[in-house]
Amino acid sequence: MIEKNLIIENINKDLQTVKNMPDFQIVKAKYLGKKGEIKELMKNMTNLSIEEKKVFGQKVNELKNEVEEILNTKLNEMLEEEKKNAELKQWIDITLPSTKKIVGKEHLISSTMKEICEIFVNLGFTAVEGNEIENSWFNFDALNTPKWHPARDMQDTFYIESEDEKLLRTHTSNVQIRTMMGNEPPIAVVSAGRVYRKDEMDATHLPVFHQVEVLFVDKNVSVAHLKMSLEAFAKQYFGDEVEILLRPSFFPFVEPGFEVDISCIFCGGKGCNVCKNTGWIEILGAGLVHPNVLENVNYNSEKWQGFAFGIGVERVAMLKHNLKDMREFVKNDVRFIEK
Ligand code: PHE
Repeated sequence: MIEKNLIIENINKDLQTVKNMPDFQIVKAKYLGKKGEIKELMKNMTNLSIEEKKVFGQKVNELKNEVEEILNTKLNEMLEEEKKNAELKQWIDITLPSTKKIVGKEHLISSTMKEICEIFVNLGFTAVEGNEIENSWFNFDALNTPKWHPARDMQDTFYIESEDEKLLRTHTSNVQIRTMMGNEPPIAVVSAGRVYRKDEMDATHLPVFHQVEVLFVDKNVSVAHLKMSLEAFAKQYFGDEVEILLRPSFFPFVEPGFEVDISCIFCGGKGCNVCKNTGWIEILGAGLVHPNVLENVNYNSEKWQGFAFGIGVERVAMLKHNLKDMREFVKNDVRFIEK
């Protein structure tokens, strides 16, 4: 007796549990292998008559064919599935958003310098470059600051050993001299760059920092022109609601000289920690170009007047972006730079 249906039923059941090729081989061996169920059936033939053998043999063969077919179908299914999976893995969905690429970003100091220069370029100023390594005459003497002048002590200078007293410029005001020496008035320039002072690093000082210098020379220039330009800058950079305040101050190369404040952008002028309850925050030095400076570059100071100011880039960027520590600019912490 061959329990054909039972065998077929079992093989189908076994195949249902097959998950991979090794599983499949085990099932295949169970039925078609050397010790498989079909071979076992053959063993029963030995006791049969020739006639019976014929009939039995045929039945076993039929069963074997059927089993083979079932197994082959399953095998083909599995191969097909495998192929599909491989294709699926290769498939690229071009509509998916791309993976985030890490690209460089402009440093806040660079973008701030650009932003400030752009404000003045839009007002008609020309952007110019300046020297960082400077002859002391351009950095001090021509700016009405001779050697004996106490103001030289105000700015602790990095000197470079050289015959003509080279130094790292202590401010961008050297650009005033270089520009006026090379050009006839009227002049309207803006210049951004690095400056150097022997300052200890702390939350509000860096030995290397940045300024933007603005110089305007023309006939009949007055404090009104200076004020108008400062206001244009303050409102465009910090916001329309910002007011400016000019306080008398001293720089050897201007007369009169001013320290310029903006109304506190944190409390709107009411008084807070940042403005130390004054309602005002100092952002730059300014003034009308000193007649001596004009004469030093061979301009007739009777005929020409000018105004100039120097904006502390770190200072205004810290205010605008509410940063508390200037050292963040040079730490190169990616979390800061990325912002
Ligand atoms: N050079 C001055 C400083 O570094 C700023 C300044 C520039 C002041 C132009 C007046 C005019 O502090």
